[in-house]
Amino acid sequence: MLRAWYFSTILVLLACVQDAVGLQRATEDLGAERRRMVEQQLRGRDIGEPRVLDAMLAVPRHLFVPESVRPQAYDDSPLPIGYDQTISQPYIVAFMTQALNVESNHRVLEIGTGSGYQAAVLSLLAGRVYTIEIVAPLAAGARRTLADLGYRNVEVRTGNGYLGWPEHAPYDRIMVTAAPDQVPPALVQQLKVGGLMAIPVGTVRQQLQILRRTPTAMETLSTLPVRFVPMTGKP
Ligand SMILES: C[S@@+](CC[C@H](N)C(=O)[O-])C[C@H]1O[C@@H](n2cnc3c(N)ncnc32)[C@H](O)[C@@H]1O
Repeated sequence: MLRAWYFSTILVLLACVQDAVGLQRATEDLGAERRRMVEQQLRGRDIGEPRVLDAMLAVPRHLFVPESVRPQAYDDSPLPIGYDQTISQPYIVAFMTQALNVESNHRVLEIGTGSGYQAAVLSLLAGRVYTIEIVAPLAAGARRTLADLGYRNVEVRTGNGYLGWPEHAPYDRIMVTAAPDQVPPALVQQLKVGGLMAIPVGTVRQQLQILRRTPTAMETLSTLPVRFVPMTGKP
C-alpha cells in the first residue's frame, strides 16, 4: 500500500518536472524567436534606434495574440486578433515607433489599441500612454493583458479615436494605427506645437505620414506606402 503511494507520488512529481521543463523550453524558444525577429526583420532593415530595438525585444508579442495564431507571433506579418482586426507587422510597429522619436517624459496618444501590443512598446519609451479602441471587447482584452503583464503607465479607453482624448491633451506624440481618409482635426488640435504624429491616410492603400505640428500648419516629414484597416466611426 505504502509502496503504491510512493510510486504514484514519484510519477506525479516526474510529470510536474517534465511540464516545467517543457514550459521553460517553450519560453526559451519564444525568446529566441523574438531575438531573431529583432535581428532579421528590424535591425536587418532600417530600424537602428537602440531604445526601439530594446523595447521590441522586451515585449512578449506572443501574449498579445490569440492562442490560435501564437505559433506565428514572431512572423514578418500582421495577424488576426478577432473582430476583423489585426495586430500590425512587427516592422511597421518598430518603424512608426522609431519615426516618432519618443522620449521618457512624453505623453503619447495611440488611436487603435487592438491587442495592446503597440501600446506596450510605446509604454517602455514614454512617460505615459493613452490608447483608444472603438471595439469594446478588444479594449477590454488589451486592458487585461497590459495589466497582467505589468504595463502600469498605459491607460485604455473604449471610444472613438476621431475625437481624441481631450482630457489629457496636449500630446507630445500621436500614433494612429487605423486609416482615416483625412487627418482628424481633433487629433491636430490635441498635438503639441512641435509634436509629431504618425498616421496612415487613405482608403484601400494608404500613405503613412509623419507629420509635425508647427504654430500655423502640419508639416509632412516623410511618407511610406502601407496597408492598415480602416478607421471606423467617422462622425
Ligand atoms: C491595425 S489595428 C491596431 C493594432 C494595434 N495597435 C495593436 O498593437 O494590436 C487597428 C485598430 O483600430 C481600431 N479602430 C478603428 N477605428 C477606430 C476609431 N475610430 N477609434 C479607435 N479605434 C479604432 C480597430 O478596431 C483596430 O483594433
